[in-house]
Amino acid sequence: MNIKTFGVERWMNTYENDAVYNLAETDAKPFTLEELVSIGDKNKVLNDMLKVKLSYNPTTGSKKLREVISGFYNDTSPENVLVTTGAIEADFLVTNSLVEPGDTVVVQFPAYQALYSTAEARGANVKYWKMDIDDNYEPDIEKLKNLIDDKTKLVVLNIPHNPTGAVISEQQLRTILSWAEEQGFWVLCDEVYHDFAINKGVIPPYGRSLSQKAISVGSMSKSYGLSGLRLGWIAGPTELINKCWSWKDYTSISNSPLNDFLAAFALINVDKVMKRNLQIARKNFRILMDWFEEHNNWFDYVKPKAGVLVFPRLKNIPFSTEELCKKLFYDKKLLMVPGECFEMPGYLRIGYGNNTEMFEKGLSIFSSFLKNL
Ligand SMILES: Cc1ncc(COP(=O)(O)O)c(C=O)c1O
Repeated sequence: MNIKTFGVERWMNTYENDAVYNLAETDAKPFTLEELVSIGDKNKVLNDMLKVKLSYNPTTGSKKLREVISGFYNDTSPENVLVTTGAIEADFLVTNSLVEPGDTVVVQFPAYQALYSTAEARGANVKYWKMDIDDNYEPDIEKLKNLIDDKTKLVVLNIPHNPTGAVISEQQLRTILSWAEEQGFWVLCDEVYHDFAINKGVIPPYGRSLSQKAISVGSMSKSYGLSGLRLGWIAGPTELINKCWSWKDYTSISNSPLNDFLAAFALINVDKVMKRNLQIARKNFRILMDWFEEHNNWFDYVKPKAGVLVFPRLKNIPFSTEELCKKLFYDKKLLMVPGECFEMPGYLRIGYGNNTEMFEKGLSIFSSFLKNL
């Protein structure tokens, strides 16, 4: 079984540690440990942390953490939750548990590669449900309907969407889930950007809250700015959770008990976490939209509806997007992700969830570069 090189992860790993202006990130400004514990009773949290036993954690995650996570979804108890090493493991476990060679898997495209390359490696016939910048990245569910066939095992959605910032509406999601119930396929809802509601009232409820055929994947990384905890989860029917658990025995056994403790603490205080993160992201969003307005001779772009990512198409630039990103990195220490990492040359992914000062400086460096072309 061969698996394709993970374009975006290799790109990030190659460049991000030396970038000074990192506009490639997909998460909220990361918390320091000090900042995180300070959103509660710092001394108590630190004392409790010192008592954490550094043994194996339960494979499914601590009862406390699973209770907190299950509270986010309707009709969901801790038995419906499996804690994983990031959403990346969650997506991997779900795909391996469900997909057999010859199955059809339909994936929203462009996409975070984990959402289709694992299925391809499993021998699935992967079909892309494409969203086009010329249609404002609007998901067209009639197009999706035409891709679903009688071998379809899984439809993979990412709401809000990496890299376009598109969102499937509640009505569209309900329609897709009704097809899943009628036809018997599963719907994997990767919802790692769910709380990044830059605009209010746009993001639909979690898939898991709407249907037994939906599997929701969440993460501490993106909306919460805690990627260093390497902690995510799957919420779904118990039978499916147990299947994924069987795979997890082989992939990671369990998460760190320290990270489980900190994740539970952060999620109990999710309102405070999100207040900070949304404040930064909304400010950066306005800066970015003004910047695009000023530079619209260089880009076609679609205002993201949610999340912290934008995926413009370049015009009038005399290099490939990969060359452009390499030039900006080597000459200016500015990092963005070229569309080549998404099989979409000519496009650029910019993340706007991080430190505002760094973000503004990065954009102004990009402006000067464009002016000198
Ligand atoms: C859609 C999507 N799913 C999953 C992941 C993996 O996230 P985690 O850090 O939780 O493993 C990412 C990371 O970029 C992502 O964009």
